[in-house]
Amino acid sequence: MVVVVVGATLLAGFRVDQAVDEEAAGGFPWSNEMLQWQRSGYHFQTAKNYMSGTSGLMYYRGWYHMFFQYNPVGTDWDDGMEWGHAVSRNLVQWRTLPIAMVADQWYDILGVLSGSMTVLPNGTVIMIYTGATNASAVEVQCIATPADPTDPLLRRWTKHPANPVIWSPPGVGTKDFRDPMTAWYDESDDTWRTLLGSKDDNNGHHDGIAMMYKTKDFLNYELIPGILHRVERTGEWECIDFYPVGRRTSDNSSEMLHVLKASMDDERHDYYSLGTYDSAANRWTPIDPELDLGIGLRYDWGKFYASTSFYDPAKKRRVLMGYVGEVDSKRADVVKGWASIQSVPRTIALDEKTRTNLLLWPVEEIETLRLNATELSDVTLNTGSVIHIPLRQGTQLDIEATFHLDASAVAALNEADVGYNCSSSGGAVNRGALGPFGLLVLAAGDRRGEQTAVYFYVSRGLDGGLHTSFCQDELRSSRAKDVTKRVIGSTVPVLDGEAFSMRVLVDHSIVQGFAMGGRTTMTSRVYPMEAYQEAKVYLFNNATGASVTAERLVVHEMDSAHNQLSNMDDHSYVQ
Ligand SMILES: *[C@@H]1O[C@H](CO)[C@@H](O)[C@H](O)[C@H]1NC(C)=O
Ligand SMILES: *[C@@H]1O[C@H](CO)[C@@H](O)[C@H](O)[C@H]1NC(C)=O
Ligand SMILES: *[C@@H]1O[C@H](CO)[C@@H](O)[C@H](O)[C@H]1NC(C)=O
Ligand SMILES: *[C@@H]1O[C@H](CO)[C@@H](O)[C@H](O)[C@H]1NC(C)=O
Ligand SMILES: *[C@@H]1O[C@H](CO)[C@@H](O)[C@H](O)[C@H]1NC(C)=O
Ligand SMILES: *[C@@H]1O[C@H](CO)[C@@H](O)[C@H](O)[C@H]1NC(C)=O
Repeated sequence: MVVVVVGATLLAGFRVDQAVDEEAAGGFPWSNEMLQWQRSGYHFQTAKNYMSGTSGLMYYRGWYHMFFQYNPVGTDWDDGMEWGHAVSRNLVQWRTLPIAMVADQWYDILGVLSGSMTVLPNGTVIMIYTGATNASAVEVQCIATPADPTDPLLRRWTKHPANPVIWSPPGVGTKDFRDPMTAWYDESDDTWRTLLGSKDDNNGHHDGIAMMYKTKDFLNYELIPGILHRVERTGEWECIDFYPVGRRTSDNSSEMLHVLKASMDDERHDYYSLGTYDSAANRWTPIDPELDLGIGLRYDWGKFYASTSFYDPAKKRRVLMGYVGEVDSKRADVVKGWASIQSVPRTIALDEKTRTNLLLWPVEEIETLRLNATELSDVTLNTGSVIHIPLRQGTQLDIEATFHLDASAVAALNEADVGYNCSSSGGAVNRGALGPFGLLVLAAGDRRGEQTAVYFYVSRGLDGGLHTSFCQDELRSSRAKDVTKRVIGSTVPVLDGEAFSMRVLVDHSIVQGFAMGGRTTMTSRVYPMEAYQEAKVYLFNNATGASVTAERLVVHEMDSAHNQLSNMDDHSYVQ
């Protein structure tokens, strides 16, 4: 299945030392073996070519459906994007199907862009998507329906003759108007509602905005006057999502909280905010203005974009997926022949303990891939220590770890480290009194070599209280110079009496970290040049002022998902 084209300058079995020399000389450092290793084992990806934004998640007649932006002829974004399609019984093992939607009409000839599915109560499925029209920089919204609704795989789609059904309204740029979300029913006036994101540059403030439409028949749409929400200087809002998530307090009659989510086109991160929705006034208001959309909480603090969610009626839960792009060079992607991986599907729930954030957690089905566990408990990590965890392999793992800081050391801490920040405080080599401590994954046997640290760091906040950061340090993840390496992460709430808990999914070139049951998550792409052969795991404590106890560590070795990847270029099913 995996076909890696070997470039003229690239020899199979290339030796690493030569490769690094070559890189230093500005040449091309990757061996075929390294690039093959980068394919994931249990995350979904296509057999080849470029994939991006997840679309149209849905459960239909026993199958989970996932669609995604797909370029059939290249490893980067281009005009003429199509909708790739994959189905699964369990959100773990996927089977790719022929392309669902191609760019073949004047209203989508420059691309069938992202959109969504709405399943009506009687089972009718309606796809709405953005078409990039023949006039450059004009985006419109279009409808398609299953050609054969009795086919549970929904392989063929019919574009509606009335397309396009929504044009951008006055005052909104024709190229800033895309990604319609799943419609919901509003019984107050017996209509279906949907949101579209855009931006308002008219006042010079470059505001992100969300606009609401209503329809009865999915063909005629009416823009509801006003703007549902606006945040200054956040730019274009792509891939809007909006859904109720739980109550404001534990009292069942308290106000419902609604999540408003958008992908920020300017900075390419998926943000969300919790707020209340007043349907009559067409207004959503954040519960904390400091955590408004685009300036506060993110679904993920790493490489994760253009996500979408759906309500899964089979398991009565909301599930999120987003794509994880490459951070290596475009040239390496061409040689690999593919680009991007889908995140593991995550459940979305309100954090009932804080009610100020969501919990994003890998769907339970992922645990069916767990093969063999290595368990340790009550391991003391003295300051500066690093402990190797022997495993059969360290390339496909699901790791759960719980830590305690020595309480007397925490009590004794009375000095600074004020305002620790994952991305600007230097990573795991920067030692403080109470951090960093955590795990090293995809690490070379020689610990001075490649490694990716996933860690907690406890410091004083600017308010004088103790704060916990959860970070992933990519700076030493690869010796290659032509990949982006950062330290990512954020602060995470740790309540009185709670241990520091993390879960880390390692799957070749993707590392996903989840802290405190999913209060904070982050995704890295890493491309080791040496450590991939050894891929060791260590516990570490680089705090200077406290020992740490790894109360519990469970390392599950993970099976591959054995996805069935067909040739996505097969257009034969498309009408
Ligand atoms: C399902 O409901 C929609 C909207 O009310 C209607 O247009 C459609 O004809 C119905 N389909 C079936 C098969 O009943
Ligand atoms: C786009 O296609 C429509 C329908 O065929 C046509 O009327 C229009 O002139 C085309 N516009 C451009 C810019 O080609
Ligand atoms: C809220 O509703 C749930 C489910 O109906 C129930 O179990 C719970 O006891 C209720 N809580 C309160 C505070 O009424
Ligand atoms: C689990 O791993 C251990 C240690 O490597 C090995 O001895 C054992 O056979 C493995 N068990 C299974 C079920 O693979
Ligand atoms: C952390 O540092 C980054 C990079 O300098 C900056 O963009 C971000 O605003 C900082 N975060 C906080 C909470 O200060
Ligand atoms: C701990 O800090 C030292 C000194 O900065 C550094 O050399 C070492 O790499 C750090 N350990 C880890 C696991 O990052």
